Amino acid sequence: MAEQDTETGKDKESKPAVTRIYSGIQPTGEIHIGNYLGALSNWVRLIPQYDCIYCVVDYHAITIEYDPAEMPHAILDTALMGMACGLDPEKCTLFVQSDVPETTELAWVFNTVTSMGALERMTQFKDKSSQHQQNINAGLFTYPVLQAADVLGPKANGVPVGDDQSQHLELTREIARRFNHQYGDTFPEARTLYSPAPRIMGLDGQHKMSKSRGNDISMKDEPDAIRKKLSTAFTDPDRKRRTDPGNPDVCNIFSLHNSFSPEDQIEMINTECRSAGIGCVDCKKMLAENMIAEIEPIQSRYHDLVVHPDEARDALKSGASRIKSMVIETLDEVRSRLGLRTTV
Ligand code: TRP
Repeated sequence: MAEQDTETGKDKESKPAVTRIYSGIQPTGEIHIGNYLGALSNWVRLIPQYDCIYCVVDYHAITIEYDPAEMPHAILDTALMGMACGLDPEKCTLFVQSDVPETTELAWVFNTVTSMGALERMTQFKDKSSQHQQNINAGLFTYPVLQAADVLGPKANGVPVGDDQSQHLELTREIARRFNHQYGDTFPEARTLYSPAPRIMGLDGQHKMSKSRGNDISMKDEPDAIRKKLSTAFTDPDRKRRTDPGNPDVCNIFSLHNSFSPEDQIEMINTECRSAGIGCVDCKKMLAENMIAEIEPIQSRYHDLVVHPDEARDALKSGASRIKSMVIETLDEVRSRLGLRTTV
């Protein structure tokens, strides 16, 4: 019998509370402030509330061209920067995707309950295949199926991501529903927990921040590099002269102030920009100092961690072993639901 919620009278099961969350980050180059604001700082914020599983998704990264010689460094470096930002392996589970190869077995099973049509509608696939026309491989096409296996292997029921992942998460739920319908109730329908930081635009003010576009500020940039990059960054395009009033609502520098600056300064800039009381040069200088103040302690933790990479490696291994046993348990259940057991 369905348990009733005393307040609403509705079935409690209709929307189970999120308890375990999963998210992944690609080991592609250096982590920039867009990754930090959009993903990592949010992941850190959620640690006290949930059983948090965070993964460096190297099997996803190989769907586009990359340098195998650089990869081991990129994987470890992404994990180290994550730890420096506050992904404390004592308080959350941090691991590398390829250390739990069982996930790819689950992805194979999920391939059989995923429709080609749904995959063809994925905008990220369309974008990536137009960007990488020389290498439109089947892995790029089934990328979201592996993502579903990432989340559902340990039966996570919440996924913190940016809005660009909402379509992938909808597919994850569809895969869970299809599997449950065909083979019996096995997987949760994971909820999307949107990051509070809106999409972080690059310094060109035109595109999402990314290293490949060269419009980023790296979490490793020195203070002077940050000052310099911000000094030439794009602001309100209609503000041509210092004496013109500006419009913070369309200014990317102002949106970065919202993430890095204290409340009273944000209010001051909001008013003074509109009345031409403050110019872009000063506004950018304030942003640079606030950004540097937030990033410097992270950089110093990063430098401490880099000196002892074996400690970080051990933490990643023990993270992987926790997830491995969860995924093995799920696969046992899956194989028996599929009728693939010769002994019962
Ligand atoms: N596709 C995600 C991105 O590009 C990364 C990712 C892989 C992920 N597996 C995941 C995110 C599972 C959330 C859950 O950002």
